[in-house]
Amino acid sequence: MDHLTRVREEFTRQAETFAASAAIADDQLTRRFQDAIGAAGAGKILDLACGPGIVTAALAGRAKAVTAFDATPEMLKKARQRCAKAGHANVHFQLGNAETMPFESGAFDAIVTRLAIHHFAEPKRVLAEMFRVLRPGGTAVIADVIVSEDPKEAALQNAIEIIRDPSHARMLPDTELLSLIAKAGFEVASQSTWDKSREFEEWMGIVNEPQRVGPLRTMVRALAEAGRTAGMGLKIEDDKIVFFHRWRMVAAKKAG
Ligand SMILES: C[S@@+](CC[C@H](N)C(=O)[O-])C[C@H]1O[C@@H](n2cnc3c(N)ncnc32)[C@H](O)[C@@H]1O
Repeated sequence: MDHLTRVREEFTRQAETFAASAAIADDQLTRRFQDAIGAAGAGKILDLACGPGIVTAALAGRAKAVTAFDATPEMLKKARQRCAKAGHANVHFQLGNAETMPFESGAFDAIVTRLAIHHFAEPKRVLAEMFRVLRPGGTAVIADVIVSEDPKEAALQNAIEIIRDPSHARMLPDTELLSLIAKAGFEVASQSTWDKSREFEEWMGIVNEPQRVGPLRTMVRALAEAGRTAGMGLKIEDDKIVFFHRWRMVAAKKAG
């Protein structure tokens, strides 16, 4: 199975649970995008790998137009429903692959992408495409979960994530993410980082695949009990498996 087929298979099954997740729909998270996008948020926006349109809907109120772009039809259906419910008539929904975008060069004033870089087989190629379709002077807001700079801890966290969801390609350490953004041609305008607490059962519920839960729970609990944090603060608290996702958000400019 090629990677994009795996992405579509996973997110078709996850569409309902992902869209309904309080941790994902968190207003505090979407407000960070409204703040980071700045003046470009009033223009033409691309929400790349938009999923169920949570960020799309949060930005559509101020935007001239938003293109919600994703590889999974079921996710686009959720995005369409969310935007219709919020009364946003300025959103266009488009199916496609982020690695080869069907847009003219310089087509957008702003591009946002949340929780998607780690699903791309070739993030370097996607960042080059983002740079191409952004207009000179435009802003890209890139936010994803990052892993430890320690290669062993990073490999362990990525292994856990891939067992949970095989469409996960690789979360990057901060230095690698920033280097890829710079190599694509962007200039970093602002950046922030924060930790979001997660709980194993809630996090597993989103993938909507009960067969994966038991074996992964056993493995992750054993790691936590052995003091292996996997670079994500893995531990047992009140008999629950808890950890954090470390987010990195970068607002980057294309010189104009
Ligand atoms: C974890 S979800 C994030 C959705 C949304 N950005 C959010 O944060 O709510 C990842 C999304 O990326 C999409 N995706 C993954 N690889 C893609 C690709 N190569 N091209 C377009 N979309 C892709 C999936 O279909 C899925 O909807």
